[in-house]
Amino acid sequence: MIGIIVARSKNNVIGKDGKIPWRIKGEQKQFKELTTGNVVIMGRRSYEEIGHPLPNRLNIIVSKTCKFEGDNLVTATSLEDAITKAKEIKGGDANIYISGGYGLFKEGLEYADRLYITEVDIEIEDGDTFFPEFDKNDYDVIVGETGGDDICFTRVTYIKNKIL
Ligand SMILES: NC(=O)c1ccc[n+]([C@@H]2O[C@H](COP(=O)([O-])OP(=O)(O)OC[C@H]3O[C@@H](n4cnc5c(N)ncnc54)[C@H](OP(=O)(O)O)[C@@H]3O)[C@@H](O)[C@H]2O)c1
Repeated sequence: MIGIIVARSKNNVIGKDGKIPWRIKGEQKQFKELTTGNVVIMGRRSYEEIGHPLPNRLNIIVSKTCKFEGDNLVTATSLEDAITKAKEIKGGDANIYISGGYGLFKEGLEYADRLYITEVDIEIEDGDTFFPEFDKNDYDVIVGETGGDDICFTRVTYIKNKIL
């Protein structure tokens, strides 16, 4: 299974000034639950924002300019290369989660069977990184749990409903 996992604002913002522009208790719980023991693929800037490999999962960083290597840490030069490496290392049945940013999400829409989107109930002004547009008609939609505190969020899973 290849999935995309993202949290986005009502106006489709995913990043601002190199960071995720909200902090909501519990918002990242689904990310941890789904990706632990599996594979995350992320762009170089997203990785540098986190600053270290995420524990207990294979981290594949996509970059043409840097090389990251270590325990559970691999570099790939393209999304395709990252998916190939994930399958080589974890086997063909690996659960692979593409976790941003923009370019990998845009390219990843073609590969992903599922989109795990946390819809955050906030408008972000001056966001500089967005989730790409996609055709909702290509997916079956499952609305899941809600959470949050001052800012609420809803988990929505999009399951690709046809071969494109
Ligand atoms: N809300 C969310 O769920 C979420 C998730 C992830 C990130 N974010 C936010 O998004 C922002 C970062 O995203 P971003 O789009 O600016 O950057 P990014 O995708 O994290 O990193 C971009 C870099 O990744 C490498 N890269 C990406 N696609 C590639 C490809 N197809 N082939 C080769 N290299 C590729 C390149 O590295 P080189 O220049 O080294 O070649 C590129 O400069 C931050 O604000 C972050 O907080 C939000």
